[in-house]
This record gives sequence, C-alpha cells and structure tokens, in this order.
Amino acid sequence: MKITTSAPGKLMLFGEHAVVYGRPCIVTAISERLTVREGNPIGDTRFLDAAIALWGKPGMKISATSSFSGTYGFGSSSAVTVAALKYIRPSASNRELFDAAYKIILDIQGKGSGFDVAAAIYGGTLYYIKNKIIEPMNIKNMPLVVGYTGVKADTVALMAAVSEKMKAQPDRVERIYDAIAKLTEDAKVKMVEGDWERVGRLMDFNQDYLRDLGVSSEKLESLILAAKNAGACGAKLSGAGGGDCMISLVDERNRKKVEDAITKAGGQVIHIAPGAQGVRLES
Ligand code: PMV
Repeated sequence: MKITTSAPGKLMLFGEHAVVYGRPCIVTAISERLTVREGNPIGDTRFLDAAIALWGKPGMKISATSSFSGTYGFGSSSAVTVAALKYIRPSASNRELFDAAYKIILDIQGKGSGFDVAAAIYGGTLYYIKNKIIEPMNIKNMPLVVGYTGVKADTVALMAAVSEKMKAQPDRVERIYDAIAKLTEDAKVKMVEGDWERVGRLMDFNQDYLRDLGVSSEKLESLILAAKNAGACGAKLSGAGGGDCMISLVDERNRKKVEDAITKAGGQVIHIAPGAQGVRLES
C-alpha cells in the first residue's frame, strides 16, 4: 500500500533563544504542511537521507513537497524529518519520533532546542522546555497576523552571535533569559484565558528583550511598528530573528487595518491558521 504522511510548520510565539538555555517557550503548529511520499527526492535531501539511514532500508526512495516556501522560517527541516520518519515507521510513538527526529536535526544543524520538532509531531500550541516538558495548551481562536520580511534568517549564525554575547556578558544575558522566562509563564496563563490584549503586551516585552539581545533587524522593527501603529495588541519577531517573520495579535475588527499596514511597510502578509494538527498519515 502506498502511503503519504504530512507534518505542520511552526511559529514561535514566545521564548526564542531563551529556550536553548533551558527556559520555556510557546510554539504553535501552523496550517502549512510538508508532505512525504514515495518518489525520487529533489532539492535538499539531507533530512530525508538521514531519516532513511536511521530507520529505513537502503535504496528506499521518498520525496517531500511543501505547501510553503522554505524561506519563511516555518520549520521545514523539522517538518520534513518528522514526516519522513512517520512514513518509514507509521507505528512509531510520538516519543520515538521525537527522539529520532531531534537526533537528526542536531546531527545536521549542530544546535537547537527541539521546539520545532515537538510542534511538527504533537501539533496544536505547546508549552515547551528542552529535554523536560512538552505540554499541550488549550487555546481558542488566537487572532494572529503574520508578516514575512522577505529576508531569510540565518538561525545558526544568530545562535552563535547570542552565544558569543553570553560569553562576553553572562550576567546580563542570563537576566534577559530569566525575564523572557517570566513573561512566557505569564503568556501561558493569559493565552488560555484568551486575554489577547495582555498577551499582546507580553509580546511587546518579549520583543524588547530580543532587541536587547541584538537579534532584531530594521525590517522586523518597521513591520512591528507598522502593526502597532495600526492598532495591534502587540507584535514581535518569531524564531531566530534577523529576518523571517514577525507576528502580531489583533482585535479581529482591526485585522484588515493591521495587515494593510504591514503590506505598506514592505512586508508580505501570510495567511495561516495556528494550532494545526501534528504529524499524520494522509492515506
Ligand atoms: O529560526 P527558527 O524559526 O528555527 O527559530 C529558532 C529559535 C531558537 O530559539 C533561536 C533556536 C531553537 O532551536 O530554539
């Protein structure tokens, strides 16, 4: 029987960078998916090859197609790895999938908290602490707006820059991480309550700390400012920074206004739904 599997992309909502250093983050799986099926692979085959080497049989041919561009920072590497492992071993438990996929990502990319792997497997919106907690959150109707900067973020370089900063100013960076951890805990409670005004404010605070860490960019700042000026409850970068996407929370009555402002500031609004289903067999 021929099967197809798919796994969702993700957006980091709170806690990027701090999560690499043991603090919590909140991530949501998105409605854009990566699909794996039988066939000759094209493009970057590193993750497919690694999945076959780990669990598959030599000579196995699987290919991946994506509903989204790999430049958005939606986590295509982790989604393809998870979908490929599920294709090879459909009966694997989520825990087995996580351990195998995280190992592949670390082998190929060298560093990372695994939050994107968790989102691809479990789906929904998750509270995540590296090597400790993957906790599903019960969130309804998150009014999220996403703006792409047009610039691809270099996650590995940004993580290296943050690590250098940590060596130079350990106390300062630890304080930033502790502050991000605290606001992430707050956001966890307020998101479940659906208090988007407050969650938006917490996004603003998170963005202040990320700017302090040095991972924001002019383009991100201008899209964030445009969203805020158009009445968004809050806005921040999402992921490593330097480019990729910014996210914003809005009162639904303001959505169009905020989206137009992001477009006018040179961003590309991307329509996705948060809280999507995790990895699954399609057929
Ligand atoms: O660049 P992205 O979207 O993969 O996000 C990276 C987030 C970091 O916290 C900087 C790294 C990580 O693996 O958690």
